[in-house]
Amino acid sequence: MKKALITGITGQDGSYLAEYLVQLGYEVFGIVRRQSVAENQSSRIHEINDQVTTYYGDLIDETSLYKIIRRVQPDEIYNLAAMSHVRVSFDVPSFTIKTNALGVLNMLEAYREVTPEAKFYQASSSEMFGNSVDNDGCQRLTTNMSPVSPYGCSKVMAYNLVCHYRNAYKLHACNGILFNHESPRRGTNFVTNKVVKGAVEIKKGLREKLELGNLDSSRDWGHSYDYVRSMHLILNHTEPRDWTVATGETRTVRQLCDYVFKSLGLNYRDYVVQNKRYMRPEELNYLKGDSLEIREKLGWKPRYNFEMMIDEMISIWQDRL
Ligand code: NAP
Ligand code: GDD
Repeated sequence: MKKALITGITGQDGSYLAEYLVQLGYEVFGIVRRQSVAENQSSRIHEINDQVTTYYGDLIDETSLYKIIRRVQPDEIYNLAAMSHVRVSFDVPSFTIKTNALGVLNMLEAYREVTPEAKFYQASSSEMFGNSVDNDGCQRLTTNMSPVSPYGCSKVMAYNLVCHYRNAYKLHACNGILFNHESPRRGTNFVTNKVVKGAVEIKKGLREKLELGNLDSSRDWGHSYDYVRSMHLILNHTEPRDWTVATGETRTVRQLCDYVFKSLGLNYRDYVVQNKRYMRPEELNYLKGDSLEIREKLGWKPRYNFEMMIDEMISIWQDRL
C-alpha cells in the first residue's frame, strides 16, 4: 500500500485529493493546523475522517514537518498548504511569503533529509504569470513569470525552489501550474462561490445586493475534482518535471455573474454592485491556459465543463440554504 502525505488536506484541493487517493488504495496522511473552532479543522474531510490519519503541523514550524515525514515515511508528498487568497495576500504579505515560499523551503529540506526517494508535488499557480500572455493569447510553461501580488511572488519563489532542488539533489520533485479551479467546497470569499452563494441568497430573499470588485478580469475556471487527478498523474509520470493544467477557456467575472443569475431567473445588473474594498492594488487581468501537453502525454481530461461545475455549485447552495 503506497503512502501519501498531503499538506493542506483540510482545504478544497486537499480534501478532493485525499478522497481520490483513498479510492486508489493509498494510505493517506495529512497535516492540519490547529484552529480555535475544532469542527472547522476537518469539515471538508468529514466523510473520510476515519480513512485518513492527520497530524498537527505547520509549514512555518520546521520541526513539525521533520517529525511527521519521519513518522509517515511517505512515498508521495503533495504540498498543497498555502495562504491561497490573492487579495488577502496584499494585507498579510509577510505571512504569505513565510507560508508559501519559506514554508515550501522547509518542506523541501525535510523531504530531502528524511525521504529523498519519495516523490514531491508542489501546488504552483497561474497567478505566477501575472499579466504575461503569449502571442496566441495563452499562458504555458515557457510564458514569462511576472507576478502582480505577494501571493504570486511567493509562488514564483516556491516554483524556483522546487526546480532547483530537483536539479541539484536529483529529487523527483514536480510543479503543477494549475489555473483557477473551483467546486462547492471552494472558500466563499473566492469569486465563483461568492457569486453563487450570493445569488442563491438573493433568490431566496435572504439578501438584496451582492458586492464585488473588478468585473472585467478573465479567468480560466475548471473543477477541483478534475485538477487533483492531474496532480496524481504528474507525480506518477516517469520523468520529474513541470506541467500546466487548464481548461483553455476563459470568461470574465461579469460573464460568470450573468450565467449564475440567469440560471436562477435573475438579471445580475439588478443586484451586483461594485465596492472598492474588493479591488486589488494590482490586478491580473487575463488567464487562459494551454494544457495540450498534459492531455496528450498523460491522458488528462477534465470531466466537468464550466456550466456543469457552476450548476453543481448552485444546486448545493440551494440545498444548503
Ligand atoms: P485552500 O482551500 O485555501 O486550502 C489551503 C490549505 O492550506 C488549508 O488546508 C489550510 O489550512 C492550509 N494551510 C494554510 N497555511 C498553512 C500553514 N502555514 N501550514 C499548514 N497548512 C496551512 O486552497 P486550495 O484551493 O485547496 O489550493 C490548494 C493549493 O493549490 C494552494 O497551495 C493554492 O495556493 C494552490 N492553487 C490553488 C488554485 C485554485 O484555483 N484553487 C490554483 C492554483 C494553485 P486551514 O484549513 O487551517 O486554513
Ligand atoms: N475573491 C474575490 N472577491 N474576487 C473578486 C471579487 C470579489 O468580491 N470581485 C471580483 N473579483 C475578481 C478578482 O479581482 C479576480 O480578478 C477574479 O475575480 C478571481 O478572484 P479569486 O476568485 O479570488 O481568484 P484568484 O484568481 O485571485 O486566485 C485563485 O486562483 C489562483 C490561480 O490563478 C486562487 O485560488 C489562488 O490560490 C490561485 O493560485
